Amino acid sequence: DANAVPQAPEDPLFGLMAAFRRDTDPNKVDLGIGAYRDDNAKPWVLPVVKKADEKLRNDPNLNHEYLPIAGLADFTSASQKLVLGGDSPAIKEKRVTSLQTISGTGAVHLGALFLAKFYKPNSNRTAYFSDPTWPNHFQIFNNVGIPQKTYPYFSKQTKGLDFDGYIKSLESADEGSIIVIHACAHNPTGVDPTQEQWKKIAEVIRAKKHFPFFDTAYQGFASGDLARDGWAIRYFVEQGFELCIAQSYAKNFGLYGERAGCFHFITSPSTDAQSVVSRVASQLAILQRSEISNPPAYGARIASIVLNDAELFAEWEANLRTMSGRIIEMRKVLRAKLEEAGTPGTWNHITDQIGMFSFTGLTEQQVLKLREDSHVYMTKNGRISMAGLNTHNVDYFAKAVDQAVRA
Ligand code: LMR
Repeated sequence: DANAVPQAPEDPLFGLMAAFRRDTDPNKVDLGIGAYRDDNAKPWVLPVVKKADEKLRNDPNLNHEYLPIAGLADFTSASQKLVLGGDSPAIKEKRVTSLQTISGTGAVHLGALFLAKFYKPNSNRTAYFSDPTWPNHFQIFNNVGIPQKTYPYFSKQTKGLDFDGYIKSLESADEGSIIVIHACAHNPTGVDPTQEQWKKIAEVIRAKKHFPFFDTAYQGFASGDLARDGWAIRYFVEQGFELCIAQSYAKNFGLYGERAGCFHFITSPSTDAQSVVSRVASQLAILQRSEISNPPAYGARIASIVLNDAELFAEWEANLRTMSGRIIEMRKVLRAKLEEAGTPGTWNHITDQIGMFSFTGLTEQQVLKLREDSHVYMTKNGRISMAGLNTHNVDYFAKAVDQAVRA
């Protein structure tokens, strides 16, 4: 009886997007969803994606047949190289199993489902998420019945990393817990560990036999350098961890609606690694088949054309620098404007944080005031998508923040 179905709350982020669209104020500012915008607040189709698209459409052999269950092989192998580095020991030793997924969300889901079925290190098997994290992480793991806890991550005092809290929490977690980790450009805080801190995190994860689950949705957005943004994952792989990776192409290719992504399971080096890889791949294929049968082709084909062509790849890197560079510029301008106005508080975190988001430190009350008084839309936790700021609205936004903070 459907009468028993309770009303669910609207998704906060997509609800925010809808509220922004309904707002008719000409000065409205959208700092909600993490999607890149150009200096005129318009979606940006990457020039390299336009080129790949044209190439694809002019291909006389193009058809609409099913992809294999694991997806487009040229795409998944290029995705391995992108995330792990071309000379990764795991690739050389054939320890990587990769399946194309419905973007990052699909990859997190496939990984969570696989772990729910096959990863049972202890009776309390729990997944740990950074506090805060991308809210969808909780929903996805909840759907597959894996209990959840959080580890401290963001320090309200410094607006930076609560490193001690993070480490202590890893140390006190039951052995064999699943640790979900943002590989770079942490969402929502824009705060990443340093390389020294990553090393310590890896050390504790090893000592406690935890299972690292990386989510990488912003490679190329944090520093503008793909290798640098992949550093943490590559370090863990070099250290011989068994781990998995959910990889999204939504942001770094601007392929949001095309749902291009990849899931990778890396087996640790051992004498029977090949047998493990074969068994893991066979189970992942069954899970994928039962859920989506086979992944959608279009976005993966676009990314694959770019990833497998040296010239287009270089052009993509330049496009990434255009996006990350504009965001870095907006961070500088916003911070300068708030400091010039003497807006109460400190604002160095705006330029210290990296990637698509800044965790402003604004309270929920201030966020709601900004929406009501100034038609500025951001999530209630005070996160802003930096890409929503541009040379035309940054002054307006800084003034609105100043007003809200002083109110
Ligand atoms: C975001 O956090 O804004 C993005 O990752 C979009 C999403 O799917 O939540």
